Amino acid sequence: MAMDPEGGFGQIMSMARGFQVAKMLMVAVDLGLFDFLAEPKSAVETAAWLKADARGAGIFLNGLAALGLVDKSGDYFKNSELASRYLVQGSENYRGAIIKHIEHTWERGWKDLKETVLLGHPPQADPEKWLDARPERDEAEVRAFTWGMHAIARDLAPQVAARLDLSGVRRLLDLGGGPATYAINFAQANPGLQATVFDLPMPLEIARENIGKNGLTDRVGALAGNFLQDDIGTGYDFIWISQILHSHDEGQCRFIIAKAVAALAPGGALAIQDFYLNADGVSPAGAAMFGVHMLAVTPRGRAYTHDEVAAWMQAAGLATPEFIQSGMDASILVAKKR
Ligand SMILES: C[S@@+](CC[C@H](N)C(=O)[O-])C[C@H]1O[C@@H](n2cnc3c(N)ncnc32)[C@H](O)[C@@H]1O
Repeated sequence: MAMDPEGGFGQIMSMARGFQVAKMLMVAVDLGLFDFLAEPKSAVETAAWLKADARGAGIFLNGLAALGLVDKSGDYFKNSELASRYLVQGSENYRGAIIKHIEHTWERGWKDLKETVLLGHPPQADPEKWLDARPERDEAEVRAFTWGMHAIARDLAPQVAARLDLSGVRRLLDLGGGPATYAINFAQANPGLQATVFDLPMPLEIARENIGKNGLTDRVGALAGNFLQDDIGTGYDFIWISQILHSHDEGQCRFIIAKAVAALAPGGALAIQDFYLNADGVSPAGAAMFGVHMLAVTPRGRAYTHDEVAAWMQAAGLATPEFIQSGMDASILVAKKR
């Protein structure tokens, strides 16, 4: 689905058809097609495996080949290099959870986008109840969401661990740490460090699985709670908050930052990673698009500028934050407690 290089009407058509590509990928992942197409199969064999109509399967496979998700040779279809790298269940590198999570966000808000834009918040959300920013969802959704976060963070976390100076840090808190991807990488890169992952009970089950898989149960602990209501502990040398602020409103963000600063030991540091916007509100494009995603799926979340968050950090008693570009659209603000 190449954009029209001339910037003509073809570009508008590519945008309008964007959902077709997304839906094809989601259906293929949901059907587990890439598990079956690890070896070359015909459309008839694929239809039999799916217990599906041969016409539907044949047309769909040709479409997936056009997208580059499968390769076609004669009458046979097989995973492309890209699909075999990321979309085969059971492989250690499987990233299907994030595709399933993105699909869930259609029902969770995107389908109501017009009403949301007109109202300023999703129609089903009560913006007055600021504690319900993240209602507990059903287990399958939470699993897809939490392993989906791991699918995104697993490439970035080792780079972040290499960039942050955690040399003197003994106790680290990963607040809203989800699958514990960052806590695990921080512990692996810093042998003297003990980490605690704080999150709601369901995501913490996945954190525990991930910590166990990495053989770090003695150095990375899990603490269950709601950080808007419950005690998060105290005396930490370093607190890491990644991809949390954007799903909360400004008052909640200030509350979370103040709570983290209060939980730091004297001289400790707080680092906050997010999809920060530049002052123009438009760039980087990934952050602006993420802002729309938060409008669609949260009661009062949005993307914040690094200037806004830096000001809240200083108001909460931190020194002037240092800015670190971590991913293509993600960046970190880090500052010591004054
Ligand atoms: C977008 S994920 C980010 C996960 C991880 N920090 C990362 O960057 O990969 C947000 C996490 O915050 C957790 N979370 C959201 N609201 C929370 C609350 N009130 N108390 C505890 N955890 C919360 C979610 O369960 C989820 O694991």
